[in-house]
Amino acid sequence: MKSVIVGNWKMNQDLASIEKFFQELAPILDSGLNTAWLAPQFVHLPQLLSHRQRWPSYLKVGAQNCSHLTDGAMTGEVSPKTLVDMNIDFVILGHSERREHFNESSELLNTKVKLALSLGLTVIYCVGETKEQRENEQTLSIITEQLDQGLKGIHQEAYSSLLIAYEPVWAIGTGLTASPEQAQEVHQAIRKHLASLAPQKADSTPILYGGSVKPGNIAQLMKQPDINGALVGGASLKAFDFAELIKIASCQA
Ligand code: PGA
Repeated sequence: MKSVIVGNWKMNQDLASIEKFFQELAPILDSGLNTAWLAPQFVHLPQLLSHRQRWPSYLKVGAQNCSHLTDGAMTGEVSPKTLVDMNIDFVILGHSERREHFNESSELLNTKVKLALSLGLTVIYCVGETKEQRENEQTLSIITEQLDQGLKGIHQEAYSSLLIAYEPVWAIGTGLTASPEQAQEVHQAIRKHLASLAPQKADSTPILYGGSVKPGNIAQLMKQPDINGALVGGASLKAFDFAELIKIASCQA
């Protein structure tokens, strides 16, 4: 499976820094080594789409969230239908920052995942345990629950447009990374659980790791059999680091 490297820019970057980013990222995109997936703030999506015209096969543009409804009186929300209309490639759903700061429940996320998939978007569904849950040895039960609830009622065929991201909450933006063995243990459990949810799709569903991934630690992570890529926050903001991640991951794949 080809490695999938996704940059989640969160609430960062501006028009000028994005232009500089693409000037610096151009050589790696021109090389055709692998596809870069990037999720900017909503208002920056058109700017990224204009860059995608130059690298239609090597740049995927995604949103960091979307509404659980297609239309209506939902001030401030962005419809997944609008994302489709704009030709957006993917949407990240269930990021721990959404679960924590915006109280997104697994039930709400299930509605979002189902709707986004039904409209033809590719979905990156995030799961992950907190530090406290890991210390209480609840990691695997929490992950299983988040998978069961978030993916409830999704048909096996739709898994072709689904990626899972395992992001331990304690490793996000903290500089702490799960060790390759800790990550593999959870990735393997996710793969096994996917086999019960969608037996024919478990092996082909990419499972990404996220949480302080950087050029210095990605090689070891990518050597693990069930780690198929990375969801990257901080290190995706600098083109040099992001290009390094793409290069290193491609060598491991
Ligand atoms: P980080 O963020 O790489 O800065 O830890 C990862 C994420 O939140 O997706």
